[in-house]
Amino acid sequence: MKFFIDTANLQHIREAQDLGILDGVTTNPSLMAKEGITGHDNILKHYQAICEIADGDVSAEVISTDFEGMVREGEALAALHENIVVKIPMIKDGIKALKHFSSKGIKTNCTLIFNAGQALMAAKAGATYVSPFIGRLDDISFDGMDLIAQIVHIYQNYGIKTQVLAASVRNNLHIVKCAEAGADVITAPLSAITGLLKHPLTDIGLAQFLADHAKGNS
Ligand code: E4P
Repeated sequence: MKFFIDTANLQHIREAQDLGILDGVTTNPSLMAKEGITGHDNILKHYQAICEIADGDVSAEVISTDFEGMVREGEALAALHENIVVKIPMIKDGIKALKHFSSKGIKTNCTLIFNAGQALMAAKAGATYVSPFIGRLDDISFDGMDLIAQIVHIYQNYGIKTQVLAASVRNNLHIVKCAEAGADVITAPLSAITGLLKHPLTDIGLAQFLADHAKGNS
């Protein structure tokens, strides 16, 4: 399973990259705004900065909601760096845009997926990735993890190549459950990724080992 970081924070991206486990980055307009990145030119520069730090695919989201706008924006984003993946919302014109980019060999990530039918449509249109949002489904009392398992199952039925990129991952348990369900990729904030490292018995065990070593060598 690939690990993407879900942030526009360059320090967090650097930290995950330095850990040596990072396979890519996802962003969205809210994450860009959270970092205070506004204005067309600044946003493009920020994507370039992200691509210079991280290895692997970097999802950059279009703002347009009409086909022509998405194509115009997506082509400009894709021209920024070879690792850019054009992130397209799951709407009718988005399906047309996915088809357009897939026929041109430009990678895409279809975002805001909340049911299996949407995931099937995005795959039919040739999306490289689909992003089902786990946490936001959990927030409204639907089990987001069930959706991941359902999409993985459907894609396996037909040998569909579109990768299931589990998004809106909020904690380390989500990541483990995604691995159980067979997600191809998870995208998560740094805290959820580093949360995987933690266990109290590891801390207690290490403290004991170091204390015993110190006793024997004093
Ligand atoms: C997906 O690519 C989105 O950027 C993201 O995972 C949304 O997460 P949130 O629901 O925590 O905002």
